Amino acid sequence: MQTNYQWLKILSTSLGAAALVGCAGISDAPAQKGQINQRPFGQMKDGTPVTLFTLRNNKGAEAGIINYGGLVIFLKVPDRNGHFDDVVLGYNNLADYIKDSPYFGAMIGRYGNRIAKGKFTLDGKEYTLAINNGPNALHGGLKGFDKVVWEPRVFATLDGPSLELRYTSKDGEEGYPGTLTVKATYTLAEDNALKLEYTATTDKDTVLNLTQHSYFNLAGKGDILNHQVMIPADKFTPVDSTLIPTGELKPIEGTPFDFRAPTAIGARIGQDDEQLKFGGGYDHNWVVNKPTGQLGLMGRVYEPTTGRVLEVFSTEPGLQFYTGNFLDGKLTGKGGWAYQFRNGFCMEAQHYPDSPNQPNFPSVVLKPGKEYRNTIIFKFSVQK
Ligand code: GLA
Repeated sequence: MQTNYQWLKILSTSLGAAALVGCAGISDAPAQKGQINQRPFGQMKDGTPVTLFTLRNNKGAEAGIINYGGLVIFLKVPDRNGHFDDVVLGYNNLADYIKDSPYFGAMIGRYGNRIAKGKFTLDGKEYTLAINNGPNALHGGLKGFDKVVWEPRVFATLDGPSLELRYTSKDGEEGYPGTLTVKATYTLAEDNALKLEYTATTDKDTVLNLTQHSYFNLAGKGDILNHQVMIPADKFTPVDSTLIPTGELKPIEGTPFDFRAPTAIGARIGQDDEQLKFGGGYDHNWVVNKPTGQLGLMGRVYEPTTGRVLEVFSTEPGLQFYTGNFLDGKLTGKGGWAYQFRNGFCMEAQHYPDSPNQPNFPSVVLKPGKEYRNTIIFKFSVQK
């Protein structure tokens, strides 16, 4: 266990003066709103070192993030009795992440979710992506943003300790047009909110859909079927059997997709419903009731045994709610936990799946001279 002194010392040595200059809103009193620590976390096959950054606030919450894939590898928050547990699934070493991970804690890009048959047309030109999920392209391709090493920088903000990760994706990388310069900033605030801010610019017209793919289990063990979920959405985007949206925005009224009132995940997941069958459970995009670009609540989850509450806020228009339907006990993670069917859920704030091929969905086109911005906040609290 490190002392506070060591944490501060590491912070001050890893914070060059240059890192503090020229960044709006950055305080020169870094220790006041928590601390940040860093340590080696293995290396890539070519020798590139990977670092684990631990953001810690003054309430004792901790977020562990590595600059391989921008992965959130642990997130420790209190229950209603003040007991801290790690509430995200994942591994405790780099090799396991590299070997086989269903996007545990991952930064997803360039395009979160599916693009039908790995093809889209932009400005009259057809682009072809790798097919890596049935007949479709999923989560940025064979080597998406979750599998590259990002350039890190740490600094203190008025909200709390921050980690900034930068990556430049080359024109044509994974089949996508344009050189894309991406910045992802992770800040752990005093109110136990992990705030992610993404910005990106391009030198050619391109498509983009960044998201975060943490698997949560607010009890820190077992399945997630008793977690109570609320999603403020009147509609969702039904899919075909390969999980590509049909294009319809379908009212959730009277379906197992109505989460407007808090409902246990397991209450209706086994119903005889074609959409649930296609997904093997919930693996769908909800059309959240708010304007695109406006920061608002996307979902709220309450875990009754611990009292933990997760609220997801975002500027994105959709929420992919996925119930760990592909987990099958074959991957063993932290603490020797073999992740079984539905041991974790994801709430991926994003644009709708397959938007490049769906003219009725909010646009995912980014043009040169414009800045892409996306905020996702995971805020933890407790309910008595
Ligand atoms: C997303 C997809 C799911 C699945 C997971 C990763 O949530 O929608 O179908 O691919 O990622 O296993």
